[in-house]
Amino acid sequence: MPDTLREGDFIPQTVTPPEKPLPLVRGLLQMIANPLHVWPRAMYENPYHGVRWIGRTFHYFRRPEHMKALFLDHADVFRKSQFQKKLVGPALGEGLLTSEGEHWKFQRRAASPAFRIDALRAIAPAFTSSAETAADRMIAAAARGPVDVMSEMQHATLDVIVETILGGADPDFGYNRIAGTVEDYMKTMGKPDMLDMFGAPTWIPRPWGGKGRRAASGLKQSAVNAIERRRASGETRNDLLGLLLAARDPETGRGLSEDELRDNVVTFIGAGHETTALALTFALYLIANAPEIQDRLVREAREVCGDSPIDAAMIDAMPFHEQVIKETMRLYPPVSIIDRVAAADIDFGDVHVKKGDFAFALIYIMHRHRRLWEQPERFDPDRFSEERAKGISRFQYMPFGAGPRICIGMKFAYMEAIAILATLVRRLRFLPNADHKVEPNIRITLRPEGGMPLFVGRR
Ligand code: HEM
Repeated sequence: MPDTLREGDFIPQTVTPPEKPLPLVRGLLQMIANPLHVWPRAMYENPYHGVRWIGRTFHYFRRPEHMKALFLDHADVFRKSQFQKKLVGPALGEGLLTSEGEHWKFQRRAASPAFRIDALRAIAPAFTSSAETAADRMIAAAARGPVDVMSEMQHATLDVIVETILGGADPDFGYNRIAGTVEDYMKTMGKPDMLDMFGAPTWIPRPWGGKGRRAASGLKQSAVNAIERRRASGETRNDLLGLLLAARDPETGRGLSEDELRDNVVTFIGAGHETTALALTFALYLIANAPEIQDRLVREAREVCGDSPIDAAMIDAMPFHEQVIKETMRLYPPVSIIDRVAAADIDFGDVHVKKGDFAFALIYIMHRHRRLWEQPERFDPDRFSEERAKGISRFQYMPFGAGPRICIGMKFAYMEAIAILATLVRRLRFLPNADHKVEPNIRITLRPEGGMPLFVGRR
């Protein structure tokens, strides 16, 4: 802990890294349980290491210059790795997140209009209305004790994304139906598999994957149902599904195949709600424990929005809300590792990557690296004030990735998170829960073990 802490500073809980690297077998078992328990303290202090394992090098990067080389300068050399495909592929198939090359380019072009600023400004009311409903639910639940704000935020962001993609509530994608399915998937498919770590071929049966595979096929069937309902309605709408249905490749004139349509509905619903929900979950935990910061948020929300529903212009006028969201994603990046595989030999100057090697961008570690951040374990949203943010390099803070595969929903996520946070703090007070230990765990996304029960009161 830094020795210059001031009164009121908050050091949020996380996993304490081991002092030394773990022995091999324990390390592998812990990697499956939670990689944060494997990475030793030294990794937060030095810039890089590589490990030879079954004939290839696994490169572990956490230096901004390496991130630039990986995601921008040599983006064409690095492909999505089989680890990512193994983790998310069964659910997301060949959608935008997982596809490559021309296939990816076409889908990215088709979806882009839904993420232009004018389209995002138009959906801002959906952010506020889902947050108001979440606040009502939380007030009702608070009478019974601590409220799990993680499930509340997942509910709120699912409502928003379903509205954005499908143009309204959908019987297949209601929260009560989807929540258990996503949970089952994350707990089974969403973590590394011992057989994969030893390079075992995919045809070897993995009986423990059954629940996850059923969850994936349930999600796919829901997407097919939603697409069929849209077609049967005969309506042409301008929501994301409407754009995907209408998309034509300018060169070939072809549209998205049925599988691509289905995979993109699942991709956008999955990628578009879980991550933002986690950013909000950790933000509520942080402000519950930092009352001064919570008060500043309340003041800003009241000054800018009064009691009115929050619109796009108000979102733009709340920089401190954005700072809190940014600092939350520094400490708890919803996507904590981004991995790639090299399609050719490439030289980074100080690191040589060979064709077939794996590259892991350790976002969580980079965001808490001792050489990059002052008092990295301290919650300090003012790091992202206009003045101080000038000292943060583009590739040192990467919650949304970087380069051509940067998150298509980045602006969407910021707008949504700011609108939901402001709506909640105007009405509710978040208070710490000393009985709950906060332990983030990497399972595709960075989730708090056991949810996030907090005390909630009316303002
Ligand atoms: C706080 C919220 C979010 C975080 C932290 C986040 C993070 C990321 C990251 C790190 C990537 C890059 C993955 C890689 O390079 O392998 C990504 C890609 C992507 N994200 Fe997000 N995301 C968020 C919200 C959203 C939202 C709201 C949507 C949709 C509405 C979305 C849809 C996608 C899609 C479709 C991709 C794949 C883009 C491509 O490969 O062209 N994300 N996201």
